[in-house]
Amino acid sequence: MLISIVGSGYVGLVAGACFAKLGNKVTLIDIDSETIEAINKGIPPIYEEGISEILSQVHLEATSDYRQIVNSDIIFLCVGTPVNEDGSMSLEHITKATEQIATEVEGKREYYVVVVKSTVVPGTTEELVIPILERSGQKAGRDFGVCMAPEFLREGKAVYDFMNPMRVIIGELDKRSGDTLLDLHRNLDAPVMRTSLRTAEMIKVASNAFLAMKISYINEIGNICKQLGIDTYEVARGMAFDDRIGSQFLDAGIGFGGSCLPKDLKALIVKAKQVGYRPGILEEILRLNEKQALEPVQLLKKHVSIHGASVGLLGLAFKPGTDDVRDSRAIEIARVLLQEGAKVKAYDPLAMANFKKLFPQIDYVTIEEVLDCDAVLIITEWDEFKDLDYRGKVVIDGRRIPKAREARIYEGVCW
Ligand code: UDX
Repeated sequence: MLISIVGSGYVGLVAGACFAKLGNKVTLIDIDSETIEAINKGIPPIYEEGISEILSQVHLEATSDYRQIVNSDIIFLCVGTPVNEDGSMSLEHITKATEQIATEVEGKREYYVVVVKSTVVPGTTEELVIPILERSGQKAGRDFGVCMAPEFLREGKAVYDFMNPMRVIIGELDKRSGDTLLDLHRNLDAPVMRTSLRTAEMIKVASNAFLAMKISYINEIGNICKQLGIDTYEVARGMAFDDRIGSQFLDAGIGFGGSCLPKDLKALIVKAKQVGYRPGILEEILRLNEKQALEPVQLLKKHVSIHGASVGLLGLAFKPGTDDVRDSRAIEIARVLLQEGAKVKAYDPLAMANFKKLFPQIDYVTIEEVLDCDAVLIITEWDEFKDLDYRGKVVIDGRRIPKAREARIYEGVCW
């Protein structure tokens, strides 16, 4: 099939590369000239496991020219939906990209399907995307199809998750739209659920809010355990024998960051309030997560006077396996440490360049120099932190690195 993908960020790039690998002809459309140039040279503009290999095997064309769309069987919307000041989801990029698509498809005679893959709050495809597309003079459900197909990709494992999905959710305007999209997924072995557009949108945000809830839940249990001298990880291990609970997403620590969980949760809270419902559980998940980021700083104060002390940060990425620092717990921690007069040094195997754009005033150093600081805070559980010599150090562990217990002074946030 001929596929156009608007937006070449994590989702668009991974989807594009994987659909090309599955035998389709893919064009990526983006406004960022550096991104386009990199993709056309076969260099991934972001770090993501396995993406380089695919780019060296397939031909993926990237361009800023929306005219490519006119030849497509399927057009994916994969632009970002960042968070607004008030927590709502910004639909600015979706709106602009859809307007461009509507302009380009005006003279198109063959049937095509527009698929929203960007995460959007329920109702967006029907209330925003379709009306803009119909400005072309064509009618949704007659001249073109519309689907909403959320992605469930974990950063760092996105290529694997794309090729081995736990489920494919197809929100469809009508049967023909869904049939076309289903055909594109025929070589992927996964359960498929076909549903309405707004149900698909809700499945995505509700899934992310649920994952966020598991983390805040175990962090709350962990905060209680810490007071009682109980190891939360032992508790989670015992809980996991119950299949209804499971073992995943119960790693207590300093909470969740990243480009999806915090943003999607905030957007769902705002959407609920817009329809007159106060989402108490969702609000509490977020409040707890914001508080949890600063637990290491509170624990540090028990042992070190922060003003003038050198504090080393081990890890800056929001999780291991990525260079992404969006909503990383390191941001809030670094901000407070600097505000309280600490000399902050930091090391991360991949994310130092990205973090430097936010905090140029921090010293970016080697692991050894971090370990030489008056105190060390473990923020991301990178493998290379698992076998360091922590003896003699003051270590506050936000991510449960067993060997760090050898430190002279050791505090785990939830254990
Ligand atoms: C998430 C969802 O997992 C994915 O399905 C969705 O499509 C996009 O959002 P991602 O943002 O890549 O993926 O990160 P994820 O692996 O879910 O981790 C999110 C955050 O939660 C990280 O900061 C991680 O450190 C934290 N986390 C995760 C915990 O604190 N404890 C856990 O048990 C699991």
